[in-house]
Amino acid sequence: MAKPRLLLTHSLFEPAIALLAPHFEMDVWRESFGIPREELFRRIADKDALICLLSDKVNEELLGHAPKLRIAATVSVGYDNLDVPACTRHGVAATNTPGVLDDTTADFAWTLLMAVARRLIEGETWIRSGQWPGWDLAQLCGTDIWGKTLGIWGFGRIGREVARRSLGFKMRVIYHSNRRAPEDVERELHAEYVERDRLIAESDFLSLHVPLTADTRHMISAEVLRRMKRTAFLINTTRGPVVDEAALAAALAAGEIAGAGLDVFEREPIVNPALIPLKNVVLAPHMGSASLETRTKMAVMAAGNCVALFQGERPPNVLNPEAVKI
Ligand code: GLV
Repeated sequence: MAKPRLLLTHSLFEPAIALLAPHFEMDVWRESFGIPREELFRRIADKDALICLLSDKVNEELLGHAPKLRIAATVSVGYDNLDVPACTRHGVAATNTPGVLDDTTADFAWTLLMAVARRLIEGETWIRSGQWPGWDLAQLCGTDIWGKTLGIWGFGRIGREVARRSLGFKMRVIYHSNRRAPEDVERELHAEYVERDRLIAESDFLSLHVPLTADTRHMISAEVLRRMKRTAFLINTTRGPVVDEAALAAALAAGEIAGAGLDVFEREPIVNPALIPLKNVVLAPHMGSASLETRTKMAVMAAGNCVALFQGERPPNVLNPEAVKI
């Protein structure tokens, strides 16, 4: 029997390819960064399965070109690139890669937090410029991390791992989330639930861990930024549009908050030009989950979802179980 046909919009790490190879006839886009939309529409026409990245939008328009498609597997935990209701209407299982990147992403939120608070990039740039004159008492004085208040907005798997890492820094941890965490989790992580207004007003470091939805788009607005401490730092490792990027650039330039660490942007790969000259922001190219170990696990997980479906099983990470007929 002919194998089902799988389109990969990006080549995957070898362990994922090895998992897929016995089950699928594969069409891998490797020519350049990001498959052009027209090419994607052309190639998806005869495919049974799709493995895509968060830059590939699986929406009504794409599904209209994919009459045979049964699964769209994104290699990411965030799935704002998948129109899940549209997938369901077309009988397409939508899957993501939750869980395997929590620690790695939490590590990176801390990387940004520490880099911006302690002005690491400014120092590094100075050394590379060849202009560093040597040690001086008042040089590059940043802000202490230890003993401060860490605010976490969104207390799911990644938010909780960010909290866990604060224990060694002797911090107070407060969080806000749609759902309050169970008491034993709060106790273990020394985390106190607070209302949104208190989180905004009391955090010295405010780290964002909500998914991008219609409700969270521009959740960090000019008004929220005005209500933060002037000494506070904002850390964003979730999705760019959660923050009003223009308002953030203005707040950073005006000293309304002390700094920011950003791994994600509103219109990637475009970064608001107003952010570029600012020294009080550390900019990273959406690399929160980018360790070789974790990205490999994500790719294997996406592959596993596709294999499961064509073996007559429910994909372990299906977002719309109602679309799966097994
Ligand atoms: C990365 O941003 C992801 O959602 O996995």
